[in-house]
Amino acid sequence: MSDPFAAQLIEWRRTLHTWPELSNQELATTARVREWLQAADIRLVDYPISTGVVAEIGHGEPLIALRADIDALPIHEQTQLPFASKNAGVMHACGHDIHTSVILGAALQLKAREATLPGRVRLLFQPGEENCTGAKQLIKAGALEGVQAIFGMHNEPGLPTGTFATRGGAFYANADRFIIRIHGKGAHAAHPEQGIDTIVLTSQVIQALQALTSRSFNTLDSLVLSITRIDAGKTWNVLPEEVMFGGTLRTHDNKVREQVQQRVKHLVQTLVEASGATAEVSWTAGPPVLINDEHWASVSAEVAKNSGYKVQTADLHLGGEDFAIYLQQVPGAFVSIGSASEFGLHHEGFNPDEALIAPAAHYFAHLAEHALAELVEQAKTAGAA
Ligand code: NI
Repeated sequence: MSDPFAAQLIEWRRTLHTWPELSNQELATTARVREWLQAADIRLVDYPISTGVVAEIGHGEPLIALRADIDALPIHEQTQLPFASKNAGVMHACGHDIHTSVILGAALQLKAREATLPGRVRLLFQPGEENCTGAKQLIKAGALEGVQAIFGMHNEPGLPTGTFATRGGAFYANADRFIIRIHGKGAHAAHPEQGIDTIVLTSQVIQALQALTSRSFNTLDSLVLSITRIDAGKTWNVLPEEVMFGGTLRTHDNKVREQVQQRVKHLVQTLVEASGATAEVSWTAGPPVLINDEHWASVSAEVAKNSGYKVQTADLHLGGEDFAIYLQQVPGAFVSIGSASEFGLHHEGFNPDEALIAPAAHYFAHLAEHALAELVEQAKTAGAA
């Protein structure tokens, strides 16, 4: 490695990768990020959070934020890499180690140019992205106060290295979870007529849910409903009293989201009533739809083009991303940067291309400077008006 900056970031990334930690348990990761920032003379800002790190570079106003996520997943790594996870059953399978090293790199760049920085950059290394708790924690702790624009990234394994994609408006999906319990009447398997068969009923409900989402909504409304689990029965000759099943609904439009929920509840109740059974449907909201600010999305893409990226307009993404919660409070943009992994996110073989790290670090430093300069101009214009 001829570029010492890139080599440093890759070394950090590999250390993070070797020692991944689950959501809200990122104690060692927090300690490492703090230590690396302090060694670079970057000032830490204390907020009441148990994991995660907040730091700042520059002085005064305006203030923007760059966000990285630091948590890993309960997956047993199967990459055979020399720096593979040594925490059995835990893996950076979503590339948050990459995101963290990118924002650390941007921090080093901005620190080197701190004297000419037209304002302040707050760095948010947030815990608990995977369980959608981290953004809420940082906001509650006050880490978003005063922030005028916020930026973040996710690596995109399906895009080649050197490729950049974003879009204005809706980007990542509302990622809701639901559980349905159907309560019937247990019986001997040889005498279903003496019970209310929850297994057959569940299979009807699942088929009907698939027909509902594909037949009752416009095919152009982005909408996916997947059943991912079914729990029922313990043996071969008893019809179980209850079936519990559930899954996820992904949408990009809050009206569609609301309509699907209502229709699902209605459909389940109608089908179970017809069979003399009862049902409960419970929904848990995951990350909300991620809405990029149109202006900051186009600024992000423009800076990427000038930084040498091949820039594309991103497709709607069906994943959930808790960066969406910051964007409910402060305008900004979330972007995808190609990581060219053969295996996708959350896969035990996920192996993103480390060559993306240093260019992305340069990119975020430029983006931060560009955004601050623009906010300075806006303030001047507002002052003059
Ligand atoms: Ni992720």
